[in-house]
This record gives sequence, C-alpha cells and structure tokens, in this order.
Amino acid sequence: MRIEKHPILVFEKGPKVRFYFDGKEMEGYAGEPVAAALHAAGVRVLSHSQIHNRPRGFWCAIGNCSSCNMRINGVPNVRSCVEPLKEGMIVETQKGKGDLNA
Ligand code: FES
Repeated sequence: MRIEKHPILVFEKGPKVRFYFDGKEMEGYAGEPVAAALHAAGVRVLSHSQIHNRPRGFWCAIGNCSSCNMRINGVPNVRSCVEPLKEGMIVETQKGKGDLNA
C-alpha cells in the first residue's frame, strides 16, 4: 500500500525499477526509500534483532534508529528507510549485527 494523496505532502514518483529482495524480483519506483518499496509489496520484516533475533520493521522511518537495517548490494547496516531505490539493487534481510563477510 502506498499513500498516493496527502493534504500537505507531495510524493513524486520516479520511473518503475526492478530490484531483488532475498532473491525475489520486485518492483518499486526509483528514488523512493527501499523500505517503502518493500512495505508497498507487503514486506514488513526488514531485519532481526541482534540478541533475540526478533523481527524488526519500520520504526522511526527517518533514519534515526536501526530497526530497518538491511544488507543492500552486499553492504550491511544500511538504513533502508532513507536509502533511495535504484534499478537492480540487491536487498537482503539482515540478521544480527550485519557481518561484512557474510
Ligand atoms: S526505521 Fe528507523 S532508521 Fe529506518
């Protein structure tokens, strides 16, 4: 689900792009946050907590927490709520602290 109309905000959309989430091809709009594209596609779990492995999704949605950390193009701990979506991105659910050698 996407917010298409808002009384005070304007959501400009870029062209449709393809990206890959945990190996599955998905679509979103260039420039929108990766987490927003995933949310629109029904994905709610973006990472898992470091100690108890509990599912994490959107929390602050402004880049101030670590709830949405994901592995994007092989780089762990990317805040997906503020990372612009680009064609061909490889996005993976992150577990734990995000190992550079995973
Ligand atoms: S949801 Fe808090 S940094 Fe992304």
